[in-house]
Amino acid sequence: MKKECPIGLFDSGVGGTSIWNEIHNLLPNENTIYLADSKNAPYGQKSKEEIIDLSFKNTEFLLNQNCKIIVVACNTATTNAIKELRTKYDVPFIGIEPAIKPAALQSKTQTIGILATKGTLNSELFHKSVANHPDVKIIEQIGHGLVQLIENGDIDSAEMEELLKSYLNPMVEKNIDYLVLGCSHYPYLIPQIKKIIPPKIKIIDSGEAVAKQTQKILEQNNLLNLSKRKSSQIFYTNSEPEVLKNILGNNKTVIYKNF
Ligand code: DGL
Repeated sequence: MKKECPIGLFDSGVGGTSIWNEIHNLLPNENTIYLADSKNAPYGQKSKEEIIDLSFKNTEFLLNQNCKIIVVACNTATTNAIKELRTKYDVPFIGIEPAIKPAALQSKTQTIGILATKGTLNSELFHKSVANHPDVKIIEQIGHGLVQLIENGDIDSAEMEELLKSYLNPMVEKNIDYLVLGCSHYPYLIPQIKKIIPPKIKIIDSGEAVAKQTQKILEQNNLLNLSKRKSSQIFYTNSEPEVLKNILGNNKTVIYKNF
């Protein structure tokens, strides 16, 4: 029975569905429950303690739904709370961190850019991964305002374009050849970002790596769902369901719940 239990995912909002997409593509057999804590977004401006408390709350919701593994589909929650989550709950956790390592190893200009939340860029975990690459110049930029615009459904707005230009143009001038998207909301901005940065700059995020890691940990724990039954995909939000529905596209079950 445990193998048929769902994979639980949570994020401060709709962004972690970029991770859900990767996981669902790789593991279409798996049942999933996604939790969008949009009411409390953005996490990026909150204190470490607040982020830990919200991560506990989200995890407990998912564990009450019998989830067999929890994917923290949020860089801010992972970099601030994954240690505490692993200490408190007896279930495997998969986290997501900015893909600094592959970008730093492949960079030819030895200069990479990272766009992420304040909470991620200020975290100890992030500082540790930066310290592993002393020869590479890492241009850090907080994506002030981006998550709120995505949560409001304003991806294509003029305000979004202006903000992105102000964050990305200085990185381009500093000759970055890799741009790391260090927030699970940002893959939804790739079309807008590509209009601003030259095509020679490669954009990377961690979605695929997280999906592969989820598969590996499920295999190791003998938890892969081998059932032939059609899998179920449920999405919960504690805010306006429309934004989540628009991001996911039609036929998905989005349930409003005041958690
Ligand atoms: N999606 C999130 C992340 O990956 C959180 C953004 C936020 O709520 O500030 O960091």
